[in-house]
Amino acid sequence: MKHLLKLSDLTPEEIVNLLDIADQLKYEKKNGIPHKHLEGKSLGMIFEKSSTRTRVSFEVGMYELGGNALFLSSNDLQIGRGEPVEDTARVLSRFLDGIMIRTFEQKEVEDLAKYGSIPVINGLTDYCHPCQVLADLMTIREHKGTLKNLKMCFVGDGNNMANSLMVGCIKMGIEFSIACPSGYEPDADLMKWASENGKFTCTPDLMLAAKDADILVTDVWASMGQEEEAAMRKKIFADYQINSALMSVAKPDAMVLHCLPAHRGEEITAEVLEAHADEIFDEAENRLHAQKAVLLALMKD
Ligand code: CP
Ligand code: NVA
Repeated sequence: MKHLLKLSDLTPEEIVNLLDIADQLKYEKKNGIPHKHLEGKSLGMIFEKSSTRTRVSFEVGMYELGGNALFLSSNDLQIGRGEPVEDTARVLSRFLDGIMIRTFEQKEVEDLAKYGSIPVINGLTDYCHPCQVLADLMTIREHKGTLKNLKMCFVGDGNNMANSLMVGCIKMGIEFSIACPSGYEPDADLMKWASENGKFTCTPDLMLAAKDADILVTDVWASMGQEEEAAMRKKIFADYQINSALMSVAKPDAMVLHCLPAHRGEEITAEVLEAHADEIFDEAENRLHAQKAVLLALMKD
């Protein structure tokens, strides 16, 4: 593994290995066992979109691993004034040991990896959010004790989260169903791959998708960069909500995940969110452990 650009680049064994390292790092942190394996290493973190969890988990993660993290806002970088990604990649490769980038186009992340000579980590694009899904799989394994014989139902927009969850679940042998309005399905190539490689359904029918699910997941109706569509999306997605009626068709012990930030009363009710707060905030915490696992896998000598 040279980069983390998208989950489809990883083998199931590589994913499980990252989850195992993340569990170990969580254990070491909780027990005060030092793990400064990245002493003297620096990670650049380019942000072209807002972030709370991704920024803090990578920044604190580098600190706890004994290294250093630089927050690089595209508002301040020359990349924001048009310096080509090919040049940025080669310059940053001379200073840093790794780059984490959150941006719009997947191609920008892929180009950074292509032209640079250090590991590149995708901290979210319009296409996918692999770091979040590693934390999600870690949380599922923690709460369910296994990744076997499970069904996940994703409710809402076929966005970056849906794409990565679909790939992560199918690679781990988890059945994946998505309920979304027509026209808002996940990436077509990924859906084709999912149906050829596992149990996958995509339907506008919420109740059908959620039936007997072990894990219900949702995400915002309008992602970053879609602010102008927010009002229109509120109407289109109005029924695509995790609420108590939907929970009643899932398994009685179904867990709920949300990558956050959440919009209570839109994609999830406050009641369901609070009833599953332990799972959802474990998921947020696990960003730290999962991101540290990625950093070690890519940057440790
Ligand atoms: N879930 C997630 O990536 O959160 P941030 O946007 O706060 O980083
Ligand atoms: N789909 C959301 C995820 C935020 C973590 C977005 O892209 O804004």
